[in-house]
Amino acid sequence: MIGLAVRGLSVSFGGVRALRDVSFAVAPGEILSIVGPNGAGKTTVFNLVSRLFDADAGTITAGDRDITYLARHEIAAVGIARTFQNLELFDHASVLDNLLLARHAHRQSTVVAQILRLPSAMRAEVEHRLRAEQVIERFELERFRSATVANLPYGARKLVEFARALCLEPKLLLLDEPAAGLNPEERADLAFRIADVRDELGTTIVLVEHDMGLVGEVSDRVLVLNDGQLLAEGTPDVIRRDPAVIAAYLGAAT
Ligand SMILES: Nc1ncnc2c1ncn2[C@@H]1O[C@H](COP(=O)(O)OP(=O)(O)OP(=O)(O)O)[C@@H](O)[C@H]1O
Ligand SMILES: [Mg+2]
Repeated sequence: MIGLAVRGLSVSFGGVRALRDVSFAVAPGEILSIVGPNGAGKTTVFNLVSRLFDADAGTITAGDRDITYLARHEIAAVGIARTFQNLELFDHASVLDNLLLARHAHRQSTVVAQILRLPSAMRAEVEHRLRAEQVIERFELERFRSATVANLPYGARKLVEFARALCLEPKLLLLDEPAAGLNPEERADLAFRIADVRDELGTTIVLVEHDMGLVGEVSDRVLVLNDGQLLAEGTPDVIRRDPAVIAAYLGAAT
């Protein structure tokens, strides 16, 4: 587990100031939720931390490492994995292959070693399979192992997206709206899995979510973003009763 510290983060897209001087910290092993109306900047925080975009200003520290300018492909090696709001799976591959591809993309032994089938490459392959199978077991995805992702029900695909990130053995996991579109049973299952990953693996988790029930259930702390700015921060109970938070949500709804 590693902590995350974001200081003075700002970014604009054209005329849109997506984030304005946002600072927050996540303790190692903590579950922090980021909530806020549509367009508040939640996914943008993930895009900056996972290095899809550069910030205009500010710093990002993961553990004791400054990752503000880290290359995108180095993010997994630092121990950071994320899921995407709009699933980023390979639809025409099986569940197992999606999990293996996630590992191959980030932990590649050299191509030459693979072609020559060197012992190091073979060992790495065995390790990849072992890890993927462990995640399949943890998430009880056995019955879907060989299924093509495109043929899975939506709820199962959301879980595979979570499993794919977990295959990278992250120390810090960023989950972008994992409950969106789930039915009540799947949602309850997800709440259990998020808590289980933190409790059993010690993973630090940042959760972006609109489902305030889920947020209240699993989060140690909640951060509220509104219009690119930090509006409030506190325990789920305090946040739920915060007049500024209630006003922001009502304002967004009208
Ligand atoms: N790559 C981009 N190019 C242009 N504008 C962007 C880009 N990414 C985000 N934005 C804008 O930045 C603002 C914040 O977007 P972001 O996706 O972070 O919101 P969000 O809080 O995740 O919203 P939602 O709850 O709808 O997912 C929005 O106005 C969005 O249109
Ligand atoms: Mg978003």
